[in-house]
Amino acid sequence: MRESEIRNKCKEWDQEHLLQFYAELSENEQEELLSQIQETDFSILTSLGDETISQRGEIAPIDAVSLEEIQTKKEEFRELGLEEIRKGHVGAVLLAGGMGTRLGSSHPKGMFNIGETRTVYIFQRLIENMMEVVNEAEVFIPLFIMTSEKNHEETCSFFKEHDFFGYPEQKVYFFRQKMAPATDWDGKILLEKKNRLATSPNGNGGWFSSMADAGLLQELDRIGIEWLNVFAVDNVLQKIADPVFIGAVKKAGMVSGSKVVAKAEPTERVGVLCLEDGKPSIVEYYELSEEMTYALDKNGKLLYNYGVILNYLFRVDTLKDIMNQHLPVHVVKKKIPYIDKNGTCVSPEEPNGYKFEELVLDMIHMMDNCLAFEVERDREFAPVKNATGKDSVDSARELLKKNGIEI
Ligand code: UTP
Repeated sequence: MRESEIRNKCKEWDQEHLLQFYAELSENEQEELLSQIQETDFSILTSLGDETISQRGEIAPIDAVSLEEIQTKKEEFRELGLEEIRKGHVGAVLLAGGMGTRLGSSHPKGMFNIGETRTVYIFQRLIENMMEVVNEAEVFIPLFIMTSEKNHEETCSFFKEHDFFGYPEQKVYFFRQKMAPATDWDGKILLEKKNRLATSPNGNGGWFSSMADAGLLQELDRIGIEWLNVFAVDNVLQKIADPVFIGAVKKAGMVSGSKVVAKAEPTERVGVLCLEDGKPSIVEYYELSEEMTYALDKNGKLLYNYGVILNYLFRVDTLKDIMNQHLPVHVVKKKIPYIDKNGTCVSPEEPNGYKFEELVLDMIHMMDNCLAFEVERDREFAPVKNATGKDSVDSARELLKKNGIEI
C-alpha cells in the first residue's frame, strides 16, 4: 500500500527514477528510501523557472541610525537593552546549519580553530562574545543553535566535549533545520546513494519554522522571550545580544532591526538594506541600477550605503504572525555529488544542478519596519567564508588581533 502511494507521488512529480534501484535494495534500505521520499516536500520543485524573485518593487533608500547618532545615545540604548535582557526577554539564535563549502573543512564551521598561538574554535569565540553581555547583564541569555541533519550530531557532541565552553548547558537548545532535495538541470532529483536522495540544508530562512517544528515556541513563551537576535556562525567579531542594538530597536518602537555597515565601495558585493514598496527589504548589489549604486545624498554619502552582516533582531510576536507566509525560494547552481544510472558515485568539478534555499534576509521584507543600525565594520564584522583571501581565516585573524583579542 505504502509503496504504491509513494510510486504515485513520484509519478505525479515526474520523479520515478528515484526508485530505479529499488528492487536491488534490502528491506531496510527500501524502507529508508520510501520514508525519505514520503517526508520530502516535492512542491519546492515548482520554484524551478520561477522568475518572481528577481521582480522587485519600487526601491528607495532607508534611514539608518548612524554611528554618530548611536554614540550620543549609547548609554540610554544600553540601559534599555540591558533591562530587556535582565527581564529574560532576549534570546539568541545561532544559524549553524550551513555546509561551509567555501571554507573546505569537512566539519561544521563552528569547529574550525581560528587561533594561532592557542586553540580558539569559532563556537568558543561566539560564546566568549556572548559572555561579554552575560557579564554585563548578570544573566545568561538562552542560546538556540540551528543545525542540519548533516552536522547535528557532530555539533552537539562538540559542545558537550567542551563543556559548552563554560556556558550553562541548560541555556543551550539545539534544533535541526529542514532539508531540501537537489536536482539536475532538468529538475530530476539526484540520488546520493541507491536508497538516498541527494539533499542539502534548505537555507537559513526557515529557522523560525524549524524552531516551531522542534517545539521551541512553547519554550520561548515559557521563558517569556520577546526578542530573538539571529546571527551567522562565521562572523567571529560580532556582538551577540548587543544591549545597545536591542535598546535602539525598542526605543524606535520597531519590530525588527538589522546591523549594517557602510559599504567599503559603491560596488561592494553585499546585500543592501533599503525600502521596497515602502517596506524594509534587502536588495542584492547586482539588483541596484548603476545610477542607484553611485547616487549620493545631500551630505555626499552613498544613498544606498548600508550592507547587511547577518545580525538581525526580531520581535517574537511578529515572527509568529508571519510564520505561515511563504518565503521566496532561491534556486542556486551548485556542485552536487550523486550516483549515475549505473550506481557509480560522481563528485562533479563544476556545478551540475540546483539546490533550493530560503534566506533569512527575505524575512526583513515581511516586517512592517526595520531599524538599520550602523556598526563599525572593523569592530564587528570578520566573516570566515574562505580559507584565504577576502572574508577568510586570514582576514578574520587580522581583525581579531586588531581588536586586541588574543588568538
Ligand atoms: P552562508 O551563506 O555563508 O552558507 O551561510 P554556508 O553554507 O555556511 O557556506 P558556503 O556557502 O557553503 O561556503 C550564512 C549563515 O547561514 C547559516 C550558515 O551556517 C551561516 O551561519 N546557514 C546557511 C544555515 O544555518 N543553514 C543553511 O541552510 C545555510
